[in-house]
Amino acid sequence: MQKTFYIHTYGCQMNVHESEQLAGMLSKRGFIPTDKPENCDIMVFNTCCVRETAETKILGNLGIAKKMKENKPDMIIAVCGCMAQKEGNAQMLKKRCPFINIIFGTHNLSQFGEYLDSFDNKRIIDIWDKEKEIVENIPVLRSSGVNGWVNIMYGCNNFCSYCIVPYVRGRERSRDPKQIISEVKNLVNEGYKEITLLGQNVNSYGAGSDTNFASLLSSLAEIDGKFRLKFMTSHPKDLSEDVVKVIASSEKLADYIHLPVQAGSDRILSMMNRKYTQKQYLDTIDMIRKYIPHVGLSSDIMVGFPTETEEDYLETEKVVKTVGFNNLFTFIYSRRSGTPADKMEQIPYAIKQARIKRLIDLQFEIGNKQASDCVGKTFEVICEEWKDGIAKGKSSCEKAITFESKDNVYGKFVNVEITKSKNNQLIGKIKE
Ligand code: SAH
Ligand code: SF4
Ligand code: F3S
Repeated sequence: MQKTFYIHTYGCQMNVHESEQLAGMLSKRGFIPTDKPENCDIMVFNTCCVRETAETKILGNLGIAKKMKENKPDMIIAVCGCMAQKEGNAQMLKKRCPFINIIFGTHNLSQFGEYLDSFDNKRIIDIWDKEKEIVENIPVLRSSGVNGWVNIMYGCNNFCSYCIVPYVRGRERSRDPKQIISEVKNLVNEGYKEITLLGQNVNSYGAGSDTNFASLLSSLAEIDGKFRLKFMTSHPKDLSEDVVKVIASSEKLADYIHLPVQAGSDRILSMMNRKYTQKQYLDTIDMIRKYIPHVGLSSDIMVGFPTETEEDYLETEKVVKTVGFNNLFTFIYSRRSGTPADKMEQIPYAIKQARIKRLIDLQFEIGNKQASDCVGKTFEVICEEWKDGIAKGKSSCEKAITFESKDNVYGKFVNVEITKSKNNQLIGKIKE
């Protein structure tokens, strides 16, 4: 019988894609994926440590894995990714969780296959303290439907004062454009309809070389075939007019930008080390809308940053009302040891909770209004799901739309007219 694996993935899209690489390395060695973790031969935890909640959840699930392993003692448990990379954690896991067999970090993900090959029941604990050259040609077992993830750069140099990512992902380094173009071409030829470029700050792609993000996007937009190209994440401090112009001028680039603002108050933005003011952020939004009037915008926002007052919070609400985002990803600030914000004056949890609730309610109202404004409009949708005559997909401006279709239109581009909206949801019918 073939040996099986199960991967728990936490955190951002970068991790989702890296789990596809872990799966690729496993599959190359004859393992097959299973949806029954209790029976698997290898269980991998690809972890995140961006907020405390992520770490707590992972520790809880490791406890469940320990129980599963009691019934299946030869199960191999591996823990990798950002939480394993964070200083002190590998030692903590080594001591507290003797049932974990393999621990490795973010810089040595490509070594996973070798750890498996050399595994002889002795524990392998290998954390590299620094990033090395980018490793190309890691096998990938993709599992994100019509979407293909493509990493264009690794690491982050921004050191926002609250964020652990630069400490666990190392310094910025960009992939060679030739490698990226060839990967995207292959994906399009294989039938992927949506390509999402990944990086912590895609706008600094190519820094220090003779290429940049705008020129990478232009080259990718020239690839033949019908597909849609998106990217994440853009840092507002350096989203250039050139990038926006490329998006505006190309059919293939989605009319959508995820531009995390984090907060509205200039005092908080400065303490966060974000390097822009509220006005600069709003000017960037105006610039985007000048070139792409129907652009879909989304953002990440954090409430409860150290010292945040009611007035500061209201500045965040002001930005949310002024911009009118399609979608908001809202977070309660979480202390991360080793970051500058951890040493700042913290505010009570109850205040953070009350603020996030207000923010979510505000965005819900905005989303409702935006959804009802869409009724009667037609969008070109990539169908991402089809079952029993009901299809789901997204427009170029990232609106999620549900529609009826007798035919299986999975993976197809279809024109859908919005017939009604229900809260934030859009419902439509195929326009012949
Ligand atoms: N590189 C991306 C974001 C990476 S982390 C960017 O700069 O936009 C994803 C989101 O998690 C961030 O945008 C931020 O809103 C949130 N985040 C990061 N650190 C956090 C912390 N300590 N507490 C709460 N949320 C955090
Ligand atoms: Fe974290 Fe800031 Fe880097 Fe994003 S840009 S990963 S929020 S340090
Ligand atoms: Fe988490 Fe690492 Fe991504 S900390 S958000 S998985 S880069």
